[in-house]
Amino acid sequence: MKIDVLTVLPELLESPFNHSILKRAKEKGLLDIHVHHLRQWAVNDYGQIDDYQFGGGAGMVMMPEPLAKAIEDLSNDQPFDEIIYVTPDGQRLNQKISNSLSLKGNILIICGHYKGIDQRIRETYVTMEISIGDYVLSGGELAAAVLVDSIGRLLPGVLNDETSALFDSFQDNLLAPPVYTRPAEWRGKKVPDILLSGDPKKIEDWQYDESVRRTEERRPDLLDGD
Ligand code: ADE
Repeated sequence: MKIDVLTVLPELLESPFNHSILKRAKEKGLLDIHVHHLRQWAVNDYGQIDDYQFGGGAGMVMMPEPLAKAIEDLSNDQPFDEIIYVTPDGQRLNQKISNSLSLKGNILIICGHYKGIDQRIRETYVTMEISIGDYVLSGGELAAAVLVDSIGRLLPGVLNDETSALFDSFQDNLLAPPVYTRPAEWRGKKVPDILLSGDPKKIEDWQYDESVRRTEERRPDLLDGD
Protein backbone atom coordinates (compact mmCIF):
# COMPACT_ATOMS: atom_id res chain seq x y z
CA MET A 1 0.00 0.00 0.00
CA LYS A 2 1.15 3.54 -0.76
CA ILE A 3 0.14 6.58 1.28
CA ASP A 4 0.99 10.12 0.22
CA VAL A 5 0.57 12.96 2.70
CA LEU A 6 0.40 16.65 1.81
CA THR A 7 1.36 19.01 4.62
CA VAL A 8 2.95 22.33 5.50
CA LEU A 9 4.61 20.73 8.54
CA PRO A 10 6.35 17.53 7.43
CA GLU A 11 8.52 17.57 10.58
CA LEU A 12 5.46 16.77 12.67
CA LEU A 13 5.08 13.46 10.85
CA GLU A 14 8.68 12.31 10.98
CA SER A 15 8.54 10.63 14.35
CA PRO A 16 5.21 8.78 14.05
CA PHE A 17 6.08 7.46 10.58
CA ASN A 18 9.59 6.34 11.50
CA HIS A 19 9.12 4.34 14.66
CA SER A 20 7.51 1.18 15.91
CA ILE A 21 4.90 -0.55 13.76
CA LEU A 22 4.91 1.93 10.88
CA LYS A 23 8.68 1.75 10.66
CA ARG A 24 8.46 -2.01 10.50
CA ALA A 25 5.72 -1.87 7.85
CA LYS A 26 7.94 0.34 5.71
CA GLU A 27 11.04 -1.81 6.23
CA LYS A 28 9.12 -4.91 5.24
CA GLY A 29 8.04 -3.15 2.03
CA LEU A 30 4.37 -3.45 3.00
CA LEU A 31 3.73 0.26 3.29
CA ASP A 32 5.23 3.08 1.32
CA ILE A 33 4.72 6.54 2.87
CA HIS A 34 5.63 9.75 1.08
CA VAL A 35 5.32 13.08 2.85
CA HIS A 36 5.21 16.12 0.57
CA HIS A 37 5.67 19.72 1.56
CA LEU A 38 2.85 21.76 0.03
CA ARG A 39 5.19 24.69 -0.40
CA GLN A 40 6.70 22.92 -3.41
CA TRP A 41 3.55 23.94 -5.25
CA ALA A 42 3.42 27.51 -3.90
CA VAL A 43 1.99 30.20 -6.19
CA ASN A 44 4.98 32.56 -5.94
CA ASP A 45 8.62 32.81 -4.94
CA TYR A 46 7.63 33.74 -1.39
CA GLY A 47 6.28 30.25 -1.03
CA GLN A 48 2.75 31.49 -0.47
CA ILE A 49 0.15 28.80 0.09
CA ASP A 50 -2.44 30.60 2.23
CA ASP A 51 -4.44 33.81 2.04
CA TYR A 52 -7.07 35.86 3.87
CA GLN A 53 -10.62 34.55 4.02
CA PHE A 54 -13.30 36.12 1.87
CA GLY A 55 -16.01 37.57 4.07
CA GLY A 56 -13.52 38.45 6.79
CA GLY A 57 -12.76 36.61 9.99
CA ALA A 58 -9.54 35.74 11.71
CA GLY A 59 -7.26 33.08 10.28
CA MET A 60 -5.85 32.22 6.90
CA VAL A 61 -7.20 29.71 4.40
CA MET A 62 -5.08 27.35 2.32
CA MET A 63 -5.29 28.49 -1.30
CA PRO A 64 -6.82 26.25 -3.95
CA GLU A 65 -4.10 26.47 -6.63
CA PRO A 66 -1.14 24.96 -4.71
CA LEU A 67 -3.36 22.13 -3.49
CA ALA A 68 -4.81 21.50 -6.95
CA LYS A 69 -1.36 21.42 -8.54
CA ALA A 70 -0.05 19.12 -5.84
CA ILE A 71 -2.98 16.72 -6.17
CA GLU A 72 -2.73 16.71 -9.97
CA ASP A 73 1.04 16.17 -9.96
CA LEU A 74 0.84 13.40 -7.41
CA SER A 75 -2.04 11.71 -9.30
CA ASN A 76 0.01 11.64 -12.50
CA ASP A 77 1.68 8.28 -11.94
CA GLN A 78 -1.43 6.57 -10.68
CA PRO A 79 -4.84 7.97 -9.71
CA PHE A 80 -5.57 7.80 -5.97
CA ASP A 81 -8.16 5.35 -4.68
CA GLU A 82 -9.16 7.94 -2.06
CA ILE A 83 -8.22 11.55 -1.47
CA ILE A 84 -8.82 12.15 2.22
CA TYR A 85 -9.01 15.51 3.93
CA VAL A 86 -8.57 15.28 7.70
CA THR A 87 -10.83 17.85 9.30
CA PRO A 88 -12.89 18.19 12.49
CA ASP A 89 -16.09 18.41 10.41
CA GLY A 90 -15.47 15.10 8.62
CA GLN A 91 -17.01 11.71 9.44
CA ARG A 92 -15.70 10.39 12.73
CA LEU A 93 -12.97 7.74 12.29
CA ASN A 94 -13.75 4.27 13.55
CA GLN A 95 -12.36 0.76 13.14
CA LYS A 96 -14.68 -0.01 10.26
CA ILE A 97 -13.34 2.93 8.24
CA SER A 98 -9.72 1.97 9.01
CA ASN A 99 -10.44 -1.63 8.00
CA SER A 100 -11.86 -0.55 4.67
CA LEU A 101 -9.06 1.93 3.99
CA SER A 102 -6.47 -0.78 4.68
CA LEU A 103 -7.78 -2.60 1.60
CA LYS A 104 -7.01 0.32 -0.73
CA GLY A 105 -3.92 0.48 -2.94
CA ASN A 106 -2.96 4.12 -2.72
CA ILE A 107 -4.41 7.05 -0.87
CA LEU A 108 -3.62 10.71 -0.43
CA ILE A 109 -4.14 12.48 2.88
CA ILE A 110 -4.37 16.27 2.95
CA CYS A 111 -3.54 18.00 6.23
CA GLY A 112 -5.26 21.32 6.71
CA HIS A 113 -3.75 24.21 8.59
CA TYR A 114 -4.84 27.65 9.69
CA LYS A 115 -8.62 27.88 9.03
CA GLY A 116 -8.54 24.91 6.66
CA ILE A 117 -8.54 24.50 2.90
CA ASP A 118 -10.59 26.34 0.28
CA GLN A 119 -14.02 24.70 -0.03
CA ARG A 120 -13.63 24.27 -3.80
CA ILE A 121 -10.77 21.80 -3.30
CA ARG A 122 -13.01 19.75 -1.06
CA GLU A 123 -15.70 19.73 -3.73
CA THR A 124 -13.38 19.06 -6.66
CA TYR A 125 -10.91 16.47 -5.44
CA VAL A 126 -11.61 15.19 -1.95
CA THR A 127 -13.41 11.83 -1.81
CA MET A 128 -13.53 11.38 1.99
CA GLU A 129 -13.39 13.75 4.95
CA ILE A 130 -12.31 12.24 8.24
CA SER A 131 -12.25 13.59 11.79
CA ILE A 132 -10.41 11.75 14.55
CA GLY A 133 -12.74 13.07 17.25
CA ASP A 134 -14.86 15.95 18.45
CA TYR A 135 -12.05 18.30 19.38
CA VAL A 136 -9.96 20.68 17.34
CA LEU A 137 -6.25 20.15 16.74
CA SER A 138 -3.87 22.84 15.56
CA GLY A 139 -3.53 21.13 12.20
CA GLY A 140 -4.30 17.90 10.38
CA GLU A 141 -0.86 16.30 10.86
CA LEU A 142 -1.57 14.54 14.14
CA ALA A 143 -4.90 13.35 12.75
CA ALA A 144 -3.10 12.05 9.64
CA ALA A 145 -0.60 10.23 11.88
CA VAL A 146 -3.45 8.59 13.79
CA LEU A 147 -5.18 7.59 10.58
CA VAL A 148 -2.02 6.13 8.98
CA ASP A 149 -1.15 4.23 12.15
CA SER A 150 -4.62 2.72 12.40
CA ILE A 151 -4.47 1.62 8.74
CA GLY A 152 -0.81 0.51 8.65
CA ARG A 153 -1.12 -1.96 11.52
CA LEU A 154 -3.93 -3.76 9.68
CA LEU A 155 -1.89 -4.58 6.56
CA PRO A 156 -1.27 -8.32 6.38
CA GLY A 157 2.22 -9.17 7.65
CA VAL A 158 2.78 -5.92 9.54
CA LEU A 159 2.04 -7.25 13.01
CA ASN A 160 4.17 -10.19 14.13
CA ASP A 161 1.22 -12.24 15.23
CA GLU A 162 -0.99 -11.96 12.17
CA THR A 163 -4.13 -12.56 14.15
CA SER A 164 -3.54 -9.97 16.81
CA ALA A 165 -5.26 -7.06 15.07
CA LEU A 166 -8.36 -9.25 14.89
CA PHE A 167 -8.60 -9.18 18.67
CA ASP A 168 -8.16 -5.42 19.02
CA SER A 169 -10.86 -3.39 20.66
CA PHE A 170 -13.61 -2.39 18.21
CA GLN A 171 -13.18 -5.35 15.88
CA ASP A 172 -16.64 -7.00 16.23
CA ASN A 173 -17.84 -3.86 18.04
CA LEU A 174 -16.39 -5.11 21.31
CA LEU A 175 -13.73 -3.63 23.56
CA ALA A 176 -10.72 -5.85 24.25
CA PRO A 177 -10.68 -7.94 27.47
CA PRO A 178 -8.24 -7.15 30.31
CA VAL A 179 -4.73 -8.56 29.94
CA TYR A 180 -2.15 -9.71 32.51
CA THR A 181 1.49 -10.75 32.53
CA ARG A 182 3.87 -12.20 35.12
CA PRO A 183 4.00 -12.36 38.06
CA ALA A 184 0.78 -14.28 38.65
CA GLU A 185 0.48 -12.47 41.97
CA TRP A 186 1.61 -8.86 42.21
CA ARG A 187 1.33 -6.87 45.45
CA GLY A 188 -1.39 -9.19 46.64
CA LYS A 189 -3.41 -8.95 43.44
CA LYS A 190 -3.92 -12.22 41.58
CA VAL A 191 -4.38 -12.94 37.90
CA PRO A 192 -7.80 -14.59 37.31
CA ASP A 193 -7.39 -18.36 37.86
CA ILE A 194 -8.90 -19.23 34.51
CA LEU A 195 -6.00 -17.59 32.65
CA LEU A 196 -3.63 -19.97 34.44
CA SER A 197 -5.81 -23.00 33.75
CA GLY A 198 -4.17 -23.89 30.42
CA ASP A 199 -7.62 -24.63 28.94
CA PRO A 200 -7.81 -22.63 25.67
CA LYS A 201 -11.59 -23.00 25.28
CA LYS A 202 -12.32 -21.80 28.81
CA ILE A 203 -9.87 -18.93 28.38
CA GLU A 204 -11.46 -17.87 25.10
CA ASP A 205 -14.96 -17.96 26.64
CA TRP A 206 -13.75 -15.92 29.62
CA GLN A 207 -12.13 -13.33 27.32
CA TYR A 208 -15.29 -13.05 25.28
CA ASP A 209 -17.45 -12.62 28.40
CA GLU A 210 -15.05 -9.98 29.75
CA SER A 211 -15.16 -8.15 26.42
CA VAL A 212 -18.94 -8.06 26.47
CA ARG A 213 -19.02 -7.01 30.14
CA ARG A 214 -16.52 -4.22 29.54
CA THR A 215 -18.36 -3.02 26.47
CA GLU A 216 -21.73 -2.98 28.29
CA GLU A 217 -20.15 -1.05 31.12
CA ARG A 218 -18.05 1.45 29.18
CA ARG A 219 -19.41 1.71 25.66
CA PRO A 220 -22.97 0.36 25.47
CA ASP A 221 -23.42 2.42 22.28
CA LEU A 222 -21.14 -0.05 20.45
CA LEU A 223 -23.51 -2.93 21.15
CA ASP A 224 -26.40 -1.34 19.29
CA GLY A 225 -24.15 -0.18 16.45
CA ASP A 226 -24.10 -1.86 13.01
N1 ADE B 1 -7.76 18.86 12.16
C1 ADE B 1 -7.96 19.59 13.27
N2 ADE B 1 -8.68 18.92 14.17
C2 ADE B 1 -8.95 17.70 13.62
C3 ADE B 1 -9.67 16.56 14.04
N3 ADE B 1 -10.26 16.50 15.23
N4 ADE B 1 -9.74 15.52 13.22
C4 ADE B 1 -9.15 15.57 12.01
N5 ADE B 1 -8.47 16.61 11.55
C5 ADE B 1 -8.36 17.67 12.34
